[in-house]
Amino acid sequence: MSYTKISDKIERVDARTKARGEAMYVCDMSLPDMLYAYMVRSTCPRGKILKIDVPNLPKGYKFITADDIPQKGNNELWMISKDWRAFAKDYVLYVGETIGLLVGPDRTVLKYLRDNIHIEYEMEEPAVTIDDGIASKGGPMFPEKGNNVFCSLYCEKGRPMEEVFAEADEIFEETLETGYQEHVHLETNGAIVTMEDGKFVFYASAQCPFYIRKSIAGILGISVDDIIIRQCTTGGAFGGKEHFPDVLCGPLLVAENVIRKPIKLIFDREEDTQFSVKRHPSKCVYKTALKDGKIIGMDAKVYYNVGAYLSSSFVVLQRGIFHANGVYNIPSTHLVGEGIGTNTFPTCAFRGFGAPQTIFAVETHMDHIAHHLGVDPLEFKKDYIIKQGEETVTNGHIIEEVKLPEMLDVITKESDYWRKAKEYTPGCGKGIGISMYLHGGAFTGNGEQAIIKAHARLVRTGDKVRIEVGSTEMGQGFQTSLRKIAANTLQLPIENIEYNNPDTSKVVDSGPTAASRSTMIVGKLVERAAEEMKRRWDEGDITTEVEYEHPEGYPWDQSTFRGDAYLGWGWGVACVEVEVDKLTNEVKTVGIWTSHDIGHAIDELIVHGQVNGGIIQSLGYASMEKLENKNGFFRQKRMSDYVIPTSMDFPRQFYHLQENPYPWGPQGAKGMGELVFNGADAAYVDAVERALGTTFNSIPIPPEDIEEALKKNAQ
Ligand code: MTE
Ligand code: MOS
Repeated sequence: MSYTKISDKIERVDARTKARGEAMYVCDMSLPDMLYAYMVRSTCPRGKILKIDVPNLPKGYKFITADDIPQKGNNELWMISKDWRAFAKDYVLYVGETIGLLVGPDRTVLKYLRDNIHIEYEMEEPAVTIDDGIASKGGPMFPEKGNNVFCSLYCEKGRPMEEVFAEADEIFEETLETGYQEHVHLETNGAIVTMEDGKFVFYASAQCPFYIRKSIAGILGISVDDIIIRQCTTGGAFGGKEHFPDVLCGPLLVAENVIRKPIKLIFDREEDTQFSVKRHPSKCVYKTALKDGKIIGMDAKVYYNVGAYLSSSFVVLQRGIFHANGVYNIPSTHLVGEGIGTNTFPTCAFRGFGAPQTIFAVETHMDHIAHHLGVDPLEFKKDYIIKQGEETVTNGHIIEEVKLPEMLDVITKESDYWRKAKEYTPGCGKGIGISMYLHGGAFTGNGEQAIIKAHARLVRTGDKVRIEVGSTEMGQGFQTSLRKIAANTLQLPIENIEYNNPDTSKVVDSGPTAASRSTMIVGKLVERAAEEMKRRWDEGDITTEVEYEHPEGYPWDQSTFRGDAYLGWGWGVACVEVEVDKLTNEVKTVGIWTSHDIGHAIDELIVHGQVNGGIIQSLGYASMEKLENKNGFFRQKRMSDYVIPTSMDFPRQFYHLQENPYPWGPQGAKGMGELVFNGADAAYVDAVERALGTTFNSIPIPPEDIEEALKKNAQ
């Protein structure tokens, strides 16, 4: 068993630079003759646009719309598929859809003009919830599709479900739901566009500079090389800046094509909360076949609310399905996923990328089965933990050794789980809960090779080496990890390794900063490029560049979703102890214990930061982050009504890392940035359920919902 301690000797060159206030966020930037832009958005969830009344615009002001796109029919952003319109025209599909950009020199005038644009709609009944979408309430959104199922897939393993269900003594069925979640990256979305040498140049708060180029170039019918994206220091992203910057940059590109002056578009907090992508609400129906108190099969139907456009939702849904049996090896399983279109703001990437929803569902479902059978949830769950070589839900195999049993030993000992689990009788006001979770690292299957084809480049000048990749720093500590990898391999001090926020004209495309792939995949590419440079050090100032190659012998079929979905998984255990005030239903978390297998930690301080942040973000998701949509409008609009945890809300965590070096990762590292989000929510709900002697089937569970559940269950 290996405990990892945070070493005190960790170089922080960039932290020092940032502490001097030199970090340049897009909002801090100003260019000569710069204009400002405001978005004019739909206030109707679904309907025809009948009339747009624009007041007389003073000189120097412009209202840019779809009509300013030179070629009709080029109005769609190319995220993963092309469906999200840069500008709504003729009809609107959700509240907040971009109708136009008001551009001009004075922000006060712009605001006045924005408030005086009047748009008339012929409103149609919107679909808001998953149930609305399934029922095709108000008719199908896209008549040609015939229904609101925007995407779907299934996975199965073992014997046919009918056969398994026929053998069962009992079928345990329940529906589990999760709500919206807002990213609340502390820096709101923003971008500036300008012209340089005939090219369109963007400065943006973004995760994936190369994605933006690809997504917007088609709107003007230009080449991606006519667009340069420069990432500014990015104050948090969490998936919310993976595709969403395209929604700002697409309209800005059209405006720039007409105006040819620098234009700045920055969302304020209210806009960012109400009019940006969110985590997918989910509804999962789990049916588990039990025989002699053992699980013989599991059937799950998983629905995600994708909002009005698909964006990345099909990939999010796939990840949801691939994680829908959690860490368990269920002998026979049948999993179906459907992405349901509604007239709400499109949902998109958010830390965990679809995995948190199904992991919450399966973990809570397993706890509920254990309660039903009258056994301790952990006692029940641990018998099903998947092992090396066993079959996954995509009919692939677990390649690595699964160290969850060792991790459970550490956590149960440190938290005194077994004693407390016995002592805290159901409903006594005190509870301890425990969850296990996993996260598949990087793109699914051979996607890293087939879809991304990532490159990394190193450039040497004397004893300095510059890393040229398109992956970004967004607070997850990537640039420190990356520079450490290069420094360790080249045996140079970290100060000699340079990494700059990417500029797409100066670096190679190393793929998106998403799917926890940067350290794991791009870090490995940098390690390989550094190894080559070290071998050829005598040649002087050279450049080395490498391309990703998928290891052989791990097949994957992206059309059927069969094969080895992930070469390496991150694994986690979270234990949470709570005390519930039975008068006010306020929950006080009194202990948090976590253990993670991330292969190997490149920088322990960064990993500790990720664990702390991810666990608290997950606990916020379970306990207090309530975001509701009424008739297409989000009810919570700012940080005073959409509440996220602060350091006062949760205690210090016990933190443990399980060494388990990953053969294809840099220094043995696997992805970890999302893993740490995936399971604390279920542990929290488990603990609260035990403290109150009741069950919950949805998150979040703020005090008012606890009260309702208690009343309902008492009936
Ligand atoms: N941590 C901070 N502080 N800020 C962020 O925006 N994004 C998360 C996670 N941790 C994020 C973060 C998400 S969504 C991802 S995919 C991973 O970091 C990316 O980590 P990587 O560098 O390993 O790819
Ligand atoms: Mo992370 S949700 O993959 O950006």
